Amino acid sequence: RMMAGALRSNASSLSTVGSILTNLQHESATPLPVLRHVADAMTEDMRAGLAVEGGSDLKMILSYVDALPSGNEKGLFYALDLGGTNFRVLRVQLGGKEERVIATESEQVSIPKELMSGTSEQLFDFIASGLATFAEVEGGNFRLPHGRQREIGFTFSFPVMQTSIDSGILMKWTKGFSVSGTAGRDVVACLNEAMERQALDMRVSALVNDTVGALAGARYWDDDVMVAVILGTGTNACYVERTDAIPRLHGTMSASGMTIINTEWGAFSNGIPLTVFDKDMDAASINPGEQIFEKTISGMYLGEIARRVLLKMAEEGDLFGRSFPQKLTTPFSLRTPDLCAMQQDDSDDLQAVGSILYNATQVESNLSSRKVALEVCDAIVKRGGRLAGAGIVGILQKMDQDSKGSIYGKRTVVAMDGGLYEHYPQYRGYMQRAVEELLGSEISRNIVIEHSKDGSGIGAALLAATNSKYEH
Ligand code: GLC
Repeated sequence: RMMAGALRSNASSLSTVGSILTNLQHESATPLPVLRHVADAMTEDMRAGLAVEGGSDLKMILSYVDALPSGNEKGLFYALDLGGTNFRVLRVQLGGKEERVIATESEQVSIPKELMSGTSEQLFDFIASGLATFAEVEGGNFRLPHGRQREIGFTFSFPVMQTSIDSGILMKWTKGFSVSGTAGRDVVACLNEAMERQALDMRVSALVNDTVGALAGARYWDDDVMVAVILGTGTNACYVERTDAIPRLHGTMSASGMTIINTEWGAFSNGIPLTVFDKDMDAASINPGEQIFEKTISGMYLGEIARRVLLKMAEEGDLFGRSFPQKLTTPFSLRTPDLCAMQQDDSDDLQAVGSILYNATQVESNLSSRKVALEVCDAIVKRGGRLAGAGIVGILQKMDQDSKGSIYGKRTVVAMDGGLYEHYPQYRGYMQRAVEELLGSEISRNIVIEHSKDGSGIGAALLAATNSKYEH
């Protein structure tokens, strides 16, 4: 437990804390040349992944989505969303060009921790039963023509090797999931089996990554959307690619000449400035050596990196006094939403910072240790936001090079979704400024980075409509 009394603040422990902070800031710094390197490496890794299967860290997965929503979609569709801390079900009644979205209803439940490391059957039974309960009560605004099966757009936000628009094999889990028995299997088959166990008669018409759902959902409202990025528990991006720019396809063209590529950029690793804290966190993770970009910029990890820094400052520099509570040594006790809440405190005594630190880790802080904690948050969040910005530029630059200027030269929209983006203004600001630094003010004016609220939920339903077995 905590020692009673005032915090020790002798000169030597202060200078230790100071030098840990300086080192952190130094090693995590992302000046323009670093950002430029990351953006260029992203572009190159994209090309390498498109050239040969397994040709780069980026898997550049073919989504089998080669037609985006037109606005004409009509009818009742369901969407199912599994991919982070929550599981969501949604239904939408689409009314075509004029009426668009007539009604939606959704429900969300958080995924019990034990399911994240249980068996595949347990996880899919949980999903199917949530869906069954939700589907049971369908309000008066929703209409399914007689004799039709309900169709689902299934958003499954992990690296899936798609085998068609409605099937795909889980390559590996990410984001803290370690469910046994799913990797190597078709996740739609897993869901179908669980629905059968529930005697639930529904059909998956589209299996999509959350980025792909977000792109489809945003494109429904805005034709200039070309890229979608998720910044939440994990991170990823997808974009609209020309089929003739995908050597791996050996000349096979889609009817539209385009397709959506799911980059799985979370696995990117080239040139990212890493600190000892990142390396230790990675080594202790359930997927060491994997998802390095994700571990540096996404919501699951920022809080944990900060905790590791604060712990070292407490151990070696008495940041919180001569001793510190056990809780500070508990992995993931400090979460990214805590960092965010701390960074919103602009009072003189940093009272809120103190109580957030206390609630998360039970440390007692004074003004100077709170200031240090804020500097730590800022260093980590700044690196995350700026690297996310560099990643976006990497994608835009690839598209622009291939289309001889038709991305930078006109309005192009990057649709954003995910809790980290949505709720963390400092992160968003760092990201936006990095994009501007990299592109310059003239080009940046054409690049619109905007939040697409619930793009992915509606997007998956729209793609279920596009790929419906019925004519609507
Ligand atoms: C992880 C998943 C990826 C997903 C992203 C955002 O990186 O591997 O498929 O899109 O998280 O949820």
